[in-house]
Amino acid sequence: MSERESRTIKAVVQPEVAGQVKIENRFNGERIAYAELMRRNQHGQKELVINKFHIEPDYENLGYGKMLMDAIKDIMKKEQRVGMLSVHASNSNAQGFYESQGWEFADDDRDTLPNSGKVSDLQWWMMYDGTQEK
Ligand SMILES: CC(C)(COP(=O)(O)OP(=O)(O)OC[C@H]1O[C@@H](n2cnc3c(N)ncnc32)[C@H](O)[C@@H]1OP(=O)(O)O)[C@@H](O)C(=O)NCCC(=O)NCCS
Repeated sequence: MSERESRTIKAVVQPEVAGQVKIENRFNGERIAYAELMRRNQHGQKELVINKFHIEPDYENLGYGKMLMDAIKDIMKKEQRVGMLSVHASNSNAQGFYESQGWEFADDDRDTLPNSGKVSDLQWWMMYDGTQEK
């Protein structure tokens, strides 16, 4: 069994509580990953906004990001919501991860928020149509 497989077996996704979804170590309760979720209706569209998406550094690149994202996609599907998240324009690592999970660039914040004017200081909005069968 690979290290990645053995780590995954040790983890459990907790049901959403107070807008937070967590992955914990099954044996010692240690937090492995979490995301904060917010529901909103925007322009007649039901959205699930991911405010924070974080994997503890010791657990990166072991499949937990995908595990957490799959749990969030299940919520989107069940509630028929479109997913939205923002990511710093310079965070190409996170953008690459989100793109690998089917998210697409939707917009940036240059028209809505003050920033230095530098492209690298922008936030990107990314979206995922969670209402469709994948
Ligand atoms: C970015 C982050 C969420 C990715 O989570 P992770 O647990 O390390 O990713 P996983 O191991 O689950 O990777 C799942 C898949 O995504 C792919 N992937 C991960 N990062 C990628 C990247 N930068 N580009 C392309 N694909 C990527 C992996 O190759 C893997 O594919 P596979 O299933 O075919 O092997 C995580 O590293 C993290 O929390 N980083 C620091 C905090 C951060 O930047 N958060 C986002 C703020 S908006």
